[in-house]
Parts: sequence; C-alpha cells; structure tokens
Amino acid sequence: MNARPDPASLPIRLADYRPPAWRVERVELVFELGIDATEVAAKLLLRRDPAQDAPLRLDGENLELLAIALDGQPLPGTAYRPVEGSLEVDGVRDGSVLETRVRVHPAANTALEGLYLSGPHGTGFLLTQCEAQGFRHITYFPDRPDVQASYTVTLCADRARFPVLLAGGNPDGAGELEDGRHWARFVDPHPKPSYLFALVAGQLEKIERDYRNADGRDVQLKIWAEADAIERCHYAMDALERSMRWDEQVYGRNYDLDVFHVVATHDFNMGAMENKGLNIFNAKCLLADPDSSTDDEYRRVEAVIAHEYFHNWSGNRVTCRDWFQLSLKEGFTVFREQSFSADMNSAPLKRIEDVALLRRAQFPEDAGPLAHPVRPAEYREINNFYTATVYEKGAELVRMLAGRLGKEGFRRGTDLYFARNDGRAATIEDFLAALGEANGIDLTPYLAWYGQAGTPRLQAHGAYDAGRREYTLTLRQHTPPDQRQAHKQPLPIPVKLALFGADGRMLPLHMDGQTADGETERVVVLDRAEQRFVFRDVAERPVPSLLRGFSAPVILECDYTPTELALLLGHDPDGFNRWEAGQQLALRAYDALRDGTGPEAVAAWCDALAALFDDGNLDDALLADLLTPPGEIELAERESAVDPARIHALRQQLQQRLAARIGPAALDARYRALAARTTAALDAASQARRRLKQGVLQLLALLDPAQACGHAAAQYRDAPGMTDRLGALAVLARHDALRSAEPLAHFRTRYANDPLALDKWFALQAQLPGEAALARVQALEADPAFTLKNPNRARALLGSYASGNPTGFHRPDGAGYRLYAERLLALDALNPQIAARLATAFNGWQRLEPQRREAARAALAGLAAHDKLSRNLVEIVGNMLK
Ligand code: PHE
Ligand code: ZN
Repeated sequence: MNARPDPASLPIRLADYRPPAWRVERVELVFELGIDATEVAAKLLLRRDPAQDAPLRLDGENLELLAIALDGQPLPGTAYRPVEGSLEVDGVRDGSVLETRVRVHPAANTALEGLYLSGPHGTGFLLTQCEAQGFRHITYFPDRPDVQASYTVTLCADRARFPVLLAGGNPDGAGELEDGRHWARFVDPHPKPSYLFALVAGQLEKIERDYRNADGRDVQLKIWAEADAIERCHYAMDALERSMRWDEQVYGRNYDLDVFHVVATHDFNMGAMENKGLNIFNAKCLLADPDSSTDDEYRRVEAVIAHEYFHNWSGNRVTCRDWFQLSLKEGFTVFREQSFSADMNSAPLKRIEDVALLRRAQFPEDAGPLAHPVRPAEYREINNFYTATVYEKGAELVRMLAGRLGKEGFRRGTDLYFARNDGRAATIEDFLAALGEANGIDLTPYLAWYGQAGTPRLQAHGAYDAGRREYTLTLRQHTPPDQRQAHKQPLPIPVKLALFGADGRMLPLHMDGQTADGETERVVVLDRAEQRFVFRDVAERPVPSLLRGFSAPVILECDYTPTELALLLGHDPDGFNRWEAGQQLALRAYDALRDGTGPEAVAAWCDALAALFDDGNLDDALLADLLTPPGEIELAERESAVDPARIHALRQQLQQRLAARIGPAALDARYRALAARTTAALDAASQARRRLKQGVLQLLALLDPAQACGHAAAQYRDAPGMTDRLGALAVLARHDALRSAEPLAHFRTRYANDPLALDKWFALQAQLPGEAALARVQALEADPAFTLKNPNRARALLGSYASGNPTGFHRPDGAGYRLYAERLLALDALNPQIAARLATAFNGWQRLEPQRREAARAALAGLAAHDKLSRNLVEIVGNMLK
C-alpha cells in the first residue's frame, strides 16, 4: 500500500466545486423491508455530461452489494470496483441503465443516518434520514444535491408488521403479495436531490385533514405517530394549515403534491426534516398537549412545522447546488419561519427570543475556535455545519436584504428567485442576483457577509451642536481578526434609527435631501470603516435609538448614560429596542457590581424596572423578559479569564437587588394575582401571564425562599398544565432540595411512559447550579430510563449539563470536563453526529480562567488522542484545539 493521505480526512473546498460528470435522470427503487435486513434494488437511468470524461463513480457506504447489471447484463467482477465509500463502474454510456441490489441493516444502525429503526425491535418502525449524505447508506447513487432525479419507489413488507408504508410523492398503487406481504408505490413528479428521499414503514396511526390550495388543488394532510401519541398531533395539524395559508398569502407559494405526510419519531438526530412530501419530525418538535408540553414547546412546534413546510419551496423546489450553500435554504427558511411566527404571535416577543438565541448560540460560535462564515469555504464533515451561524446568522442576512428592499421589493425578489431557479440547484449568488435584479439594486456588497466569519462591532458616537441645531452620529465598524483571516473587510450594516427628545417623544428626522417630512425613523447604511451622518434642525440634544428591531447582527457599543437608557426603556415604541435598553442597563449594573464602581448603575436598572413593574400597560410577557438580565453565557462572552461561578453569583446578586427594590410584598401580591387567574388556555394573554408569574416567583425565591417554595408546592399540586408544573418544580428543586424530592419522584412516576416529559425531568435536574450537579448527573445516568442511544435523552441529561449549567459543568477541578469527555467517547461509537454536536459545549474553553482552561484543554486533548474517533468528532475536537 502506498502512503496516500486518507481522502476522508481531507477537507472539501467550495473552490473545488465541479458539476457532476454523471446525472441520474430517473431512479426506480424497490425495497424489501425488514428490521434486521432490508434489500434495496435500484435502477438508475444515467446521463453523462458530454464536457467531462470521468468514469461513473457512485457514493455508497456500508452497503452489501448483492447484484449489479448494466443495460440488462450482469457485470463481471472486473467491471466494477468498490473504493473508499464509492463504487466505480466501467463501460457506462450516456443513457445506460445501471441496476444494483444491496442489503442494509436497519436495526444495527445506531447513527440514525440512512435507514434505521425507531423504537423497540418488536414494535418499532422503520424510517430514513438522508440529509446531508444518508442516501449513500441506502443505495449506490451520486449522493449530491445537484443531481436531481425523478423517483419511483416501491415498498414491500410484511403486512402485519408494517401495515403502513409511506414514501415521498403521490401514491401510485398498492396491493397484496404472497406470504402476508403487501406493497405500495409512490411516484414523485418533481425531480429532487437524494437528500430529500424518505420512507416510513410500520405500525402508525394518523390524523387527517383536507386542504384546498390557493390554486384549487385538493391536498390530504396526514400526520402519523405511534398510537399513544396520535392524539397529541392536533396542534401540529392546525399549525400546518396556518403555515400553508401563510405561504400562499405572503410568498405566493402553493403546495405541489396530492398528499403531505408528517411523521413523528422519538429517535432523531435533529429537530425535523423536510423530505419531499414526507416530513419527518423529532417527536419533541411535533407532539403537544397541555398536560405534557410547555408554552415554549407549543411555540416551537408551530415554528418547526412552518419551517419544514416552507422548505417545500425554499429548499426542495429550489435546492442547493452544494453543501456550502446550505444557508441558501436554511437561512432563508429560518427567516420565513421567523416572519410567520411573528405574524401568528407577538412580533416584538419573537424578535427578542430570536436575538437572545443569536447572542447565546451564534455570537459565541462566531467568536471561538469553531467560527466559520455563513457560507463556509471548507469542511471535513458536512454534518458539523448545521450550525447557529448557517441557520440563525444566515436568517439575519436575509432579514437585512428584506429590509433593504422593503416588503414589496422583497416579494418581487423572491418571486423572481423562485421562478428562475425552480427545479434547479442554486447558489447564494443566484439568490442575491434575483433579489437585486427584481429591484434594480446591486446587492453584491452583501456577499461579503456570507464569506466572512466573526461578529462586527459597531461603535456609535453622537455629538450635538446646540448652536447649529445639528446632531452628528459617527458610526464605526470593526470585526476582530481570527486564525483564518487576519484582516476583516467592512460590511454593509443597515442601522435603523430614531432620535428621542427628553420627553420621550421621537423627533422628526432631517438629513440633507434624504428624509421625508415628519419621518421619525429611517435606515442608514454604514458600508465603510467609519461614516458620519448629520441630522439638521434638531431642537434638543437627542437620545438615539439605534439598530432598532436589531437591524443587523452586530454588537453595538454606544456610550449611553444610564439616564438615556432608562429613557429608551420607558418610551421606545420599538418593542425590541425597549427590551434592549433594559438589557444594556442590566449589563451596566452587572459591571458596576463586578467592579465595585458605586451603586448608581444598579439603582438605575432597579428603579427603571420597578417602575415598569407597576405600570399596568406593559404586556406581561414583555415585562417577564425585561425582568430577566442577560444570561450567564452572554455575560461570559464579554470577559476574558472567565470564572463561571463568579458570573453566576454576580448575576444572582443583581437579581436579588431587583427583587429587593420591587419588594417582597409587591412580588408576593403580583404572584397571587397572577396565580388566581391561572388556566391551561393557550391564548397569548394566558401564556404571557404564566411567563410573568414564573419570573415573579423566581425573584421572590431569591428574597424569601420559604414563601416562594410554599407557592411553588401549591402550584405544582394544582397546575393545570406543564408550564406551571415544570416551573414550580424548577423553583422547588433550586431553592428547597429537601422539599423537591417528593414532587420530583411524583413527576418521574407520573410521566414514566412519556419520553418527552421525562426528558424535561432529566434536563431540569442537570441544570441545577453548583458543583453538586456532577454527582446528580451521575446518579441520573443510573436511572433505568437513561440511555445514550436516544439523542433526545442524551441531550436532555448530558447536553443540559454541559451547555445549560455553567457552574455545574465548569467545576474548577475539571471533573465535569472529564466525565463529559468520557461520555462523548462512548456516544461517538454509537452516533457520531450527536457526539460532535455535544462536543461543541467546550466552545469558549480558551477564555476560561487558567485553572479551568488547563483542565478543559487536558480533557479535549485526551479525547483527541483516541484513534477510533469519527470524522465528525475529529473535526470538532481538532478545530477546538487549534
Ligand atoms: N434540514 C433540516 C431542517 O433544518 C435539518 C436536518 C439536517 C435534519 C440534517 C436532519 C439532518 O429543517
Ligand atoms: Zn431547515
């Protein structure tokens, strides 16, 4: 053997993209389904690119090749070669038909990629997951998104064991076979990439609804789940119908098949998957009922249903040329979902939630060793790039473009994008070109956002000239360098702004020839390193409200005084910026506590919030969000030599100050008033009351734990739904360990057969702060319901511990890191995707204080030293240690 580098370990580069030498025009698949072994017969009609002269090379992994024939003739062993995850075949011509027959082993597939078993051997069902490269675990195929084929799929299986047979596309016949077997055929009229292929087979129940499209097509909507879960699918069905209507109205997009299936599984690596005509969902993102789902989970179900449905156009009809373009479908679809959720619920609350997620998940990613552009330039394992950057930052980029074009302009742009690229595999450039051309605007400057990692810092400085009645706003941008790019270029940053007078009213804006009469809000675009914007006729020294609605994914640094922030917090009609002013004020208060720089900043925050607490006009949910200071992860982002225990203690002190300022009596009275109106109703006002009630109870617990735990015990007992039940349990477990033992045990028994509720039970305990969390996690690992084989369960216990419990995980002695590294190793042998994803919890380790940093480094290095790691984990750990 020569010493060629293992090709599996070489990075794949965007710059190396070449169109496929061979395409598949049509594919016919016949499955003989079995739990332990399934046989797959494939017939491919092949087309050669006349401009290329490469042999046919099909992707295939862990396939047992049983038979192979070309144009009807069985091939001799010399005419084909399985090499390194692929199969080379000689003598293929344009128009040739290649037939293969392979065997795969679903029950042994613990990676949950390709064809696998969900649930127990005797009663579970079979399903597939093909994004990004799962199809090559099912049959030999050019498994890349720019190969789009027409699919005919026939499923054959034992009728008693697999009464339900589903595949994407329209049904095209079904019938009986010998020996109690049956078959069903599906034809998909829309050519699609292999990653959108799906099948499901087993014992499933369904709920159905008839839907008529805007263009008159009758569609059957069917949601499938195991018998014990089917009654929890009604909310998803309603959400699906709302999503379909919304996409018709807002984007002019209609559904394009006669049936639309959605299936729930408890065994899934991600949230859900947009397979053409057959969406498959992690049960966590589909099932909902008041007894076992929280308000947040209801909103997530609605959002994920919408997201997957919207992919039917942004992803399926128009797909990605290659995986570097992943954000073309994901960023756009997240943005579409965000707009939908904003329309269905409260727009400012949705924006707050999304920006909070961006700051908690994406900003740290963009500032650490895993940083990558929204369109990465290279990867080793594509599954590692389903990241907050590709999804959430990608959505922010689309939001900036939408803002630049305005509502109608953006619609013109997306209409052109869909029309021009329908049935094609497109690029980010195609997206920008269509949006721009439809509006006569050159959007290519925005391409720089897609190719450059790192969160830009935006510095703002205002100067008022009373004599000339002029206000000059100076904006500067700077993106910190990283290992890959020492010099970052300036980006176009849209800054939506308004100016406030001392009375809290917005001032009219006058910018030389640019602003219409009476306009009080506008967008300026900073596209250089530094720029000045001059406002004339400004009657008084204004307070600027900048980056309204979070108009760009940047970190704003502005020299506000606490009084100015308090003014915005009290008066800004932009709900997001109002919340943001509160967050900035809280950050100043936090810094003052930490640095001991006097009581003013803390008082400013507490006074402002105490006033809002008494203000009857504020939305309950917004008030709840305002009462919550930035989280520990966000706080850690602003520091070097991070000590998570200190951050936790300081943040808690800050909350205690607020609680004391509002006062125990006022908190207690508000809690009682909200508790008296508790129901399980799901309308926005009821959800908002529950959210505020929880916030108030948490504050009260910091002042008077006995009183708060008394309330919590009663709330747990009388809770009409999961939001109240879980909220009460969290307060009890955190503030009265003794008293929480009984309700925790009660919850464990009550939900013994409800995996999603049990996940919450594991997660809640894994997140209880303090060093004792480690022993608690180890004890929970011994619970008979714990298993590394189920991704939701592993995430609930281990993921919650490492990512949701900074003081518990970051023990100074490093024991948390060591335990976690051991578990990652075990997990990697079962499911590399999950192991790699959970490993990202180490992100930020380089900025820890020295003792923890060394312990984390040692744990990572120990992990890296193992020789049988998956490519997934090797890439993450390797980048982490670079
Ligand atoms: N494409 C899915 C989504 O965002 C996510 C996913 C990726 C699911 C890979 C499974 C595997 O909707
Ligand atoms: Zn998606």
